Amino acid sequence: MKELSKKIDSCIDKIQDFPKAGIHYKDITPIFLNPDLCTKIIKSFAEFSKGKIDVVCGIESRGFLFGTQIAKELNIPFVLIRKAGKLPPPVISQEYELEYGSAEIEIKKNHIKPNQRVLIHDDILATGGTAAACAQLVENCGAKASQFSFLISLDSLDGKKKLEKYTKEIQILLE
Ligand code: PRP
Ligand code: MG
Repeated sequence: MKELSKKIDSCIDKIQDFPKAGIHYKDITPIFLNPDLCTKIIKSFAEFSKGKIDVVCGIESRGFLFGTQIAKELNIPFVLIRKAGKLPPPVISQEYELEYGSAEIEIKKNHIKPNQRVLIHDDILATGGTAAACAQLVENCGAKASQFSFLISLDSLDGKKKLEKYTKEIQILLE
């Protein structure tokens, strides 16, 4: 395991049966108690994306934590993708399937410009459903989902597979 992956792993709390029985929860919040580690994480994300993207899209809510900082480090715009009903109009929406039911995400109209190369960033890649819906939303804006980056993945093979139809440029710091 790489040095950075090891440090991230050592700062993640693993909690059995939260929020429901049978779920093995990974709590990333202790990472933010360690500013030196945060700096290393931001540098690693920025290095992966430098020169390859025009804008960062962060997925609500934990995708905002490092997403804004990647954009700042690269001196490019940051755009929020939020759960439905949080952003004022005009917005563009995208529905997607969950294990039980469906969900909807939204982005401000015209905040992503046609042909822009977009990084979609989030903390955790699980099924990949949320990130794939974000990529679809970005492409519906006429832009290109050029890269994805995540702090950790839970079920990397399945999640990654869902994203590879958009791009093979997928960075996961801890798999
Ligand atoms: C979690 C996580 C990712 C998403 C991953 O967010 O932060 O955004 O689920 O799941 P998927 O790959 O199966 O789509 P959550 O909806 O719990 O909300 P939060 O970030 O606001 O805490
Ligand atoms: Mg989330």
